[in-house]
Amino acid sequence: MKKLFKLFIICSVSFLLFGCNKDDNKLVMVTEAGFAPYEYRDSSGIVGVDVDIAREIAAAMGKELEIKDVAFDSLINELNSGKADFAAAGMSINEERKKEVDFSIEYVSSKQVVVVRKDYNKIKNINDLNGKTISVQLGSVADTYVTKNFKNSKIVRQKKFLSAAEDVKAKKSECIIMDELPAKELVKNNSELTILKIELFTDKYAIAVKKGNTELLNKINEVLEKLIEEGKIEEFVINHSS
Ligand code: ARG
Repeated sequence: MKKLFKLFIICSVSFLLFGCNKDDNKLVMVTEAGFAPYEYRDSSGIVGVDVDIAREIAAAMGKELEIKDVAFDSLINELNSGKADFAAAGMSINEERKKEVDFSIEYVSSKQVVVVRKDYNKIKNINDLNGKTISVQLGSVADTYVTKNFKNSKIVRQKKFLSAAEDVKAKKSECIIMDELPAKELVKNNSELTILKIELFTDKYAIAVKKGNTELLNKINEVLEKLIEEGKIEEFVINHSS
C-alpha cells in the first residue's frame, strides 16, 4: 500500500513537472506587432517579414506556429522564463542583449533614422538632437543610444511607435528615432511626418532564443541561411511594404 502511494506521488509530481509543460507540437514566437513591414496586424492577424520567416522555421521543424504579441521590452523575459521559444521582432544584435540571449545569424541590415513633422526644421545634424525631446520605443536600441549619448535631451519612451507618432504630430515631442523601414511605413501612413537625411547608426537584426538553446538555434540558422541564399527575405520585405 505504502509503495503504491509512493508511486502515485511520484507520478503526480512528474506530471506536474513535465506533463503540464508547453505543447511539444507548438513553436511559440514572441514579437511586438507594431513594426511594419516586419510584424504588424492585418485582417488575417499578425503578419510580416518575421512571421514569414517564423512560418518557414515551424514548417522545417514540423511544428505549429503560435505568435505572442507583447511589449518590446518584455521579449527577453518571455524567452528566459520559457513562455516563448524564440523572439523574431526586428531585434538588433548588441552587446547588452548578447549577455541575456543567444542570437541567430543576421538576416537584415538596418539603420536608425530621425522622423519629424514636415514643418519642423530644428534638427540638421546629429548634434542638434542635444536638448531636444526625443521619442523612442521603450527598450529599443534607439532608447539605449539616446540615453547614452544625449544626456540633455528629454526622452519619451513609448511602448508603441504609433504613440510616438502621435507625440510628434501633437508637438509633444520633436522627433522619433527608429529603424528605417518601419519609419518609411510610418510616414506613408502619416502624411504630416517625414524622415530626415541624417543616419545615426547601422544595426543588424537576428532571431533570439533563450541562452543555451543551441538545438533550436541551429534549426533557425539553417532556415535563415537557406532563405538568405534564395533571396527570400528581400521577397518577404517587398511583399510587406506598402
Ligand atoms: N531594431 C530595434 C531594436 O532592436 C527596434 C525593434 C523594434 N521591433 C518591434 N517589433 N517593435 O531595438
